Amino acid sequence: MTAKEKFYRAYMDFFEIAERKRRWNLFEDVPWDKLSPDINSEERAIRIETYCSEEMLLPDYTAVGNELLRGVFGLAWFQNAWSYEESRHGLVFREYLIRSGLRTQAQFDTLETEVFARSWKAPFLTRRQMSCYGALQESATYLAYRAQKERAEVEQDATLEAIFFLVSRDEAAHAGFYRSMIEIDMDEDRVGTLADLAHVIAHFKMPGDGLLPNYHENLRIGGGGISPRVFLTRAVFPLIKQLGTTRDELKSASAAVVPLRAAS
Ligand SMILES: [Fe+2]
Ligand SMILES: [Fe+2]
Repeated sequence: MTAKEKFYRAYMDFFEIAERKRRWNLFEDVPWDKLSPDINSEERAIRIETYCSEEMLLPDYTAVGNELLRGVFGLAWFQNAWSYEESRHGLVFREYLIRSGLRTQAQFDTLETEVFARSWKAPFLTRRQMSCYGALQESATYLAYRAQKERAEVEQDATLEAIFFLVSRDEAAHAGFYRSMIEIDMDEDRVGTLADLAHVIAHFKMPGDGLLPNYHENLRIGGGGISPRVFLTRAVFPLIKQLGTTRDELKSASAAVVPLRAAS
């Protein structure tokens, strides 16, 4: 099977599960009537607002993805299915902020202007490196949202629990698709792909980092971030293991490829 066929097949698997098991909608699957009465906390507002802002960079993510993936059917269609799924995330956070009263419409308008005044650029150059980035970024986002789901459970906040259950499940599925892309790339060029992965791990940062105002501070105040240790032990190391490689192999792949790139 060619790589293009493999990508198409991987996308069909992803899409079938999405269509059969993972579709949700903001109107029926979120218990808006159970908005917690004691939610009027600034910490919570900042946390959801930070997530919402990062999800609002969607037009840029989509533009970059479409440019990189447009030549391969399975990948281009993934990009657009992904964009639709991600569009629900920004929307559900926005609705939460307004319906809960944590933010007024005027406050949200200000946020919207601020976020859209910036544009996100691809942090890596090639499609293969961006697949590595996608796998890690989606995992990190999954871990952050999953922790919020657990927190909402403890706080008996049914609305946020449902929201974070739905969005975290999407992020986990996205991470899985990017992982399949890396596997397909590894079949084509194992050393080159692992060198890319090592490079991306070494230079990884979240999309909002360095772009959204006070990103780290807001994650800290809002309690929305994950620690570097959690990122390493629950996103990076498991990915390395799932791909059937090791840190040693990543190191030797970098050592083999980086001098070649420097020379060319
Ligand atoms: Fe998302
Ligand atoms: Fe995602």
